[in-house]
Amino acid sequence: MTGIAFLLNGTPVRVADQPPTRTLLDWLREGRGLNGTKEGCNEGDCGACTVMVTDAAGSRALNACILFLPQLDGKAVRTVEGLSGPKGEMHPVQAAMVDHHGSQCGFCTPGFVVSMAVGQMQGRRDHDDVLAGNLCRCTGYAPIIRAAEAAAKAPVPDWMAADQKALTSASVVSGQISSGGETRPDDLPVEGRQRRTPDGHAIGPGEAAGRGGAETPLHGFRPSNSDELAEWYQANPDATLIAGATDVGLWVTKQMRDLPKVAFLNGVTDLQKIERQGGMLHVGAGVTIATLRAAVAPTLPSLGELLRRYASEQVRNAATIGGNIANGSPIGDGPPALIALGATLHLRRGDVMRSIPLESFFLEYRKQDRQPGEFVAGVSFPEHATALRCYKLSKRFDQDISAVCGCFNVTVTDGIVTQARIAFGGMAGIPKRASAVEAALIGQVWSDATIATARAAFADDFTPLSDMRASAAYRLTAAQNLLTRYFHDLNGTPVSVLEVQP
Ligand SMILES: Cc1cc2nc3c(=O)[nH]c(=O)nc-3n(C[C@H](O)[C@H](O)[C@H](O)COP(=O)(O)OP(=O)(O)OC[C@H]3O[C@@H](n4cnc5c(N)ncnc54)[C@H](O)[C@@H]3O)c2cc1C
Ligand code: FES
Ligand code: FES
Repeated sequence: MTGIAFLLNGTPVRVADQPPTRTLLDWLREGRGLNGTKEGCNEGDCGACTVMVTDAAGSRALNACILFLPQLDGKAVRTVEGLSGPKGEMHPVQAAMVDHHGSQCGFCTPGFVVSMAVGQMQGRRDHDDVLAGNLCRCTGYAPIIRAAEAAAKAPVPDWMAADQKALTSASVVSGQISSGGETRPDDLPVEGRQRRTPDGHAIGPGEAAGRGGAETPLHGFRPSNSDELAEWYQANPDATLIAGATDVGLWVTKQMRDLPKVAFLNGVTDLQKIERQGGMLHVGAGVTIATLRAAVAPTLPSLGELLRRYASEQVRNAATIGGNIANGSPIGDGPPALIALGATLHLRRGDVMRSIPLESFFLEYRKQDRQPGEFVAGVSFPEHATALRCYKLSKRFDQDISAVCGCFNVTVTDGIVTQARIAFGGMAGIPKRASAVEAALIGQVWSDATIATARAAFADDFTPLSDMRASAAYRLTAAQNLLTRYFHDLNGTPVSVLEVQP
């Protein structure tokens, strides 16, 4: 990889000669000795590795374990070591954690503290959501939430604005951050430092350094716009595109895969826009789930609520809608909702753009209608759909993948069903429309009797699998019950477990 530069706890650093799939977590702990950032799961689930990342769009919490170094170019990173004030003053969230006994063994605490500091800076009061991606095994969440509530009342410390100010005043260009016009020297002793393998052997530059592949620099292409991406990817169709890395990160940390040729999409800003036009939302592939959630919540509240339960704050801040569609997972949450909305997918290969109905993109398990060198450019769907409802069934409320995700969008005119778009995740090898169920509804009276008939049609649409998340029988019955739930929901009966009162 060619060099990248970012601010680390306020100090400019330049990184070169690292594999492009080196994670920030490994680099912080093994290269910089910043061991406050913990490794728990190493797959984005526990939040022990949470860091604060700031750029022009603001500050957000991210999981360092599935964040590759090139994704940080031109940004500012603050670890738990960088949260206290210039004279060593505790950050209000740190003080509140002490006061409210929010820590026992302390392993999870740095991650919690960083998530809480970002939440405090943003004036957030939805502490359960802010902290849903941080797991604690011993303290219990009540004292931690009490600490977050107490810290929310304290002023945001001045020093927390330092990164944003530094990025604004510094000249930040790819591979270089300079302050006050003076280019700082390469602040990267990591390549020259001696590191140790877990069993104690010293390793130096050029030798294996754990996950992230060999220490030899690999090629990491970092386009700054979609034209550059299109040209390069057409010429390098065997490359792996990396957007938020919430899937690809695990290929490296869990499957120990070497990715010989990669392109990072986080600099492709023209794919990170949302445009509203003629009642439609045009969402670039690089839009994060967090940004999408904020954009759709006012007009598509059920989709907004589904996205609230998509993974965790840290994962939503990284994951993109393009990655969620392109990876073709049968249990992804984005595709069923977007298919129910009648979304159109936009693909690009070289100079050629094509648009297809989203549902036709998914051909069979892990096989999509995507040509070599073709990438997902964006997705368009209606801004309003009053009848859209999305139901996610998972073992945990937060931070869990769907066992079944059912999305319904039925139009009833004068008591008769005139249109129906119903799509499910978790019921087949791909996100799939329930065509037989739709056919059983269209033209019929919107009634209990019609619902009862349509329930039987699920068996024509789906032959679900049994796996660790749910049995086939559970999935089929749950999907049928979701149709009944939708019927009551559309008729105004509270159906959410969060709304139903004793
Ligand atoms: C802890 C955790 C919890 C999760 N929970 C959920 C959940 O609740 N619901 C859910 O749906 N998903 C969940 N996921 C999965 C993951 O967040 C999504 O699939 C995510 O949207 C992927 O987006 P990304 O930008 O991170 O993709 P990446 O990991 O960067 O890429 C994923 C795939 O898409 C390809 N790709 C990326 N962008 C493009 C593009 N523009 N064109 C073509 N190909 C592209 C990549 O090459 C790769 O094959 C979870 C993941 C983690 C780690
Ligand atoms: S170590 Fe668990 S989320 Fe990163
Ligand atoms: S204090 Fe021990 S895991 Fe949270």
